[in-house]
Amino acid sequence: GETGMAKEKHKDIINVSHRGASGYAPEHTIISYNMGEKMHGDYIEVDLQMTKDGKLIAMHDEKLDRTTNGTGLVKDYTLEEVKKLDAGSWFNEKYPQYANTEYAGIQVPTLEEVFQTFGKNKKYYIETKSPEVYPGMEKELLRLVNKYDINKETLLVQSFSSASLLKMNELDPSIKLVQLLSYRTNAAITDAEIAEIKKYAIGVGPNYTYLNQEYVQKVVESGLEIHPYTVNDKETMKKLIDWGVTGMFTNFPDLLHEVKKGK
Ligand code: G3P
Ligand code: CA
Repeated sequence: GETGMAKEKHKDIINVSHRGASGYAPEHTIISYNMGEKMHGDYIEVDLQMTKDGKLIAMHDEKLDRTTNGTGLVKDYTLEEVKKLDAGSWFNEKYPQYANTEYAGIQVPTLEEVFQTFGKNKKYYIETKSPEVYPGMEKELLRLVNKYDINKETLLVQSFSSASLLKMNELDPSIKLVQLLSYRTNAAITDAEIAEIKKYAIGVGPNYTYLNQEYVQKVVESGLEIHPYTVNDKETMKKLIDWGVTGMFTNFPDLLHEVKKGK
């Protein structure tokens, strides 16, 4: 019956720990990724930036300023320099209610360290950020995926840049891709746009803000996955699940877990 259907719908929703459990701990640190695991996140979301010496690191911004005690562009610093920075104290200052002395002084992880820590069978949802600033980042990402024998069945690579996704697709067509989208007003997508995205991607990741049921159903019926970002309250989670999304990004994976359990 209807109730059973609703339960089925809840069960399969992919819970993506956005920047780790970044509502509770400093984003893109091993601590926040670990917390995402404990809170039943299915995937760890990792944003990528690249250092001056070509190392991929887990960081959202092109600049060090917001999430470390450094300043300036990541691309102007070597990994050795980035490793000296404190990636946790900013969080304690900004979110005193979640502050923890253990966060002070923690390091920015490299993608390599993330793979070493969580292993080849963990589900990773990796974003190529600013690919136009970092030529070669797709190739380096693929090199590390292969070096650590990451399970490609459960690996997703996402980007706002279709050029970056097409490059990934060209380098290794077996990598599953998600096209990120950003709407500033009521979301709408044409059949032609869906057809174009389906050539290389298995899904789309739109901001949830301007989504509507018609959009979600159109995308799902086309056979694409849809994982809106970044959903941090239970009411919105429930609404989106009801509309038929197949997963979502959240800074609070524990809340989505509760929603999935019907709580
Ligand atoms: O990758 C999904 C979502 O994280 C996209 O926005 O700016 O948080 O990376 P952003
Ligand atoms: Ca992201």
